[in-house]
Amino acid sequence: MRGPVFAALLTSLVAAAQCSSSFEQQCSKLTQKLDIDNATVWFTHSVAAGTNLTFPDSDPSCGQAALAVGVDFCRVALYVATSSRSGISMEAWLPRNWTGRFLSTGNGGLNGCLSYDDMAYATELGFATVGANNGHNGTSGEPFLNNPDVIEDFAWRSVHTNVVVGKQISEAFYKKQHTKSYYLGCSTGGRQGFKSAQSFPEDFDGIVAGAPAIDFNNLNSWSGHFYLLTGPAGSPTYLTPEQWSAVHADIMAQCDGIDGYVDGIIEEPKICQYRPESLICPPGTPANSTSTCITGAQAGTVRAVFSDLHGANGTLVYPRMQPGSELLGTPSIYYGGRPFPYSADWFKYVVYNNPAWDPATLGPADYAYSDALNPSDIRTWSGDLTAFRARGAKILHYHGLQDQIISSANSPRYYDHVAQTMDLPAAALDEFYRFFQISGMGHCAGGPGATFIGQGRDSTASLDPEQNVLMAVVRWVEQGMAPEAILGTAFVDGVAGGEVAFRRRHCKYPLRNIYMGEGDPREADSWKCVV
Ligand SMILES: *[C@@H]1O[C@H](CO)[C@@H](O)[C@H](O)[C@H]1NC(C)=O
Ligand SMILES: *[C@@H]1O[C@H](CO)[C@@H](O)[C@H](O)[C@H]1NC(C)=O
Ligand SMILES: *[C@@H]1O[C@H](CO)[C@@H](O)[C@H](O)[C@H]1NC(C)=O
Ligand SMILES: *[C@@H]1O[C@H](CO)[C@@H](O)[C@H](O)[C@H]1NC(C)=O
Ligand SMILES: *[C@@H]1O[C@H](CO)[C@@H](O)[C@H](O)[C@H]1NC(C)=O
Ligand SMILES: *[C@@H]1O[C@H](CO)[C@@H](O)[C@H](O)[C@H]1NC(C)=O
Repeated sequence: MRGPVFAALLTSLVAAAQCSSSFEQQCSKLTQKLDIDNATVWFTHSVAAGTNLTFPDSDPSCGQAALAVGVDFCRVALYVATSSRSGISMEAWLPRNWTGRFLSTGNGGLNGCLSYDDMAYATELGFATVGANNGHNGTSGEPFLNNPDVIEDFAWRSVHTNVVVGKQISEAFYKKQHTKSYYLGCSTGGRQGFKSAQSFPEDFDGIVAGAPAIDFNNLNSWSGHFYLLTGPAGSPTYLTPEQWSAVHADIMAQCDGIDGYVDGIIEEPKICQYRPESLICPPGTPANSTSTCITGAQAGTVRAVFSDLHGANGTLVYPRMQPGSELLGTPSIYYGGRPFPYSADWFKYVVYNNPAWDPATLGPADYAYSDALNPSDIRTWSGDLTAFRARGAKILHYHGLQDQIISSANSPRYYDHVAQTMDLPAAALDEFYRFFQISGMGHCAGGPGATFIGQGRDSTASLDPEQNVLMAVVRWVEQGMAPEAILGTAFVDGVAGGEVAFRRRHCKYPLRNIYMGEGDPREADSWKCVV
């Protein structure tokens, strides 16, 4: 990606020299031209290509690193009140070389952090780009305490307000309306994309939604329940990181070959019915040599991790963790013998308004209560995308099949829910909604697979729509050419632009990928998508 972007940058610098003063003046004068309800504009100033931006106003918990953006743009920062006790901090980044397109970014986890990397990515590609803090600052759930308006911002109002205001700012700056409007987000950002498709179909013409945190109440119950399964470190039900490595190797031994090729990547985890009991230590195994085998109690933990979570009355709460992500998830995320912070914060600061609530007490009554509470319909599970479809909008959904935080098993469940709700087979959903399973990808990025699919600035191998989910949705919206598959790239050193390790074409659900048994398995054409 860097090559083309910097080539474009050189050209733009030449052009820039001729009209830079007017661009800068236009940007600094923008403050006076903005007349936005409930808004306080903090600053508008132009940023020259290559400037190393720092973010002193960003909450330290966001850990926002300095960022060099490769194009000239006008940076606008403002506060917009959403109620008498809530509001969003937002920014609009308006590139000099504008394509006419508008794009909104999303957020992650429970956070209140602008996704500056995504903003830089889209701004460099010529989108007038907006981002917001989701109604609060920082990564903690504490600002939700006793303030349903802050929760409402988090559930939907931040993105929607950001888009409505952002489009006004873009029009005021460029003196014309944008042509098409896009969305890019993953995780909580993926949920925000689906919330827009479900409830604000006018906001976007094209949405890229990755690893969506949908069925959000139940997701928090599920992500909190792992601590109940493992107990604290040292419990009979707790596995050490070494034992999780042994479990991973055993999963691969049982399931990696199902797709026809053994490479540490399971192409369709759904058909992996892993049996952990095969790892139980032989009788008489000395206690100091159990790092590669497990006890019966530990096998119970592992089996529960890879089983659907049911509520007290037997209803599905959330589908199982897909097998394969153990090395990415161990031990720090779910199996580390500690409560998962997002889930704990959600129950403390939203569900019970009680900071003293103990995550070790989580159980089926809490699952039922929190899902019934469903504040501001944060569930984000409506299967009715009729209005979105009717205006010709498109949604590209992807999910990494080694996602260690949001099980990829939940995404096909939503796709099938839409199919049932709208009474449409896959061939008809194809018109507006396509879902791609990305083998070997962790949560939103990373992992051993061909995970560079253009979902972010550092996850981009190419701007070719065949290889880039954002450019794929742009081509789908603007030229009517829908993506049939996403060609992913894996790099030897894991960094975009280096030596290519292999490429693989990720299939459109419900198809799955298999190796055809001959040909170089590093070549995408040696694999095919099958029913
Ligand atoms: C503007 O962006 C387009 C791509 O959207 C690129 O082809 C063109 O070279 C850029 N122009 C300048 C002056 O940077
Ligand atoms: C940008 O600034 C940060 C912090 O001020 C610094 O650590 C980093 O090296 C700088 N990057 C570049 C490319 O200059
Ligand atoms: C978030 O941070 C910004 C910048 O520091 C600040 O102006 C704003 O008031 C904060 N918002 C909230 C809700 O605390
Ligand atoms: C402005 O804020 C008030 C609450 O303070 C709200 O009722 C109103 O809808 C807001 N206006 C817009 C355009 O968002
Ligand atoms: C395990 O303990 C036994 C007896 O204490 C000892 O002989 C053996 O070397 C230990 N093995 C390892 C791998 O530490
Ligand atoms: C089972 O519990 C869920 C909430 O956990 C509730 O929505 C559902 O109605 C219950 N079903 C029955 C049959 O009671």
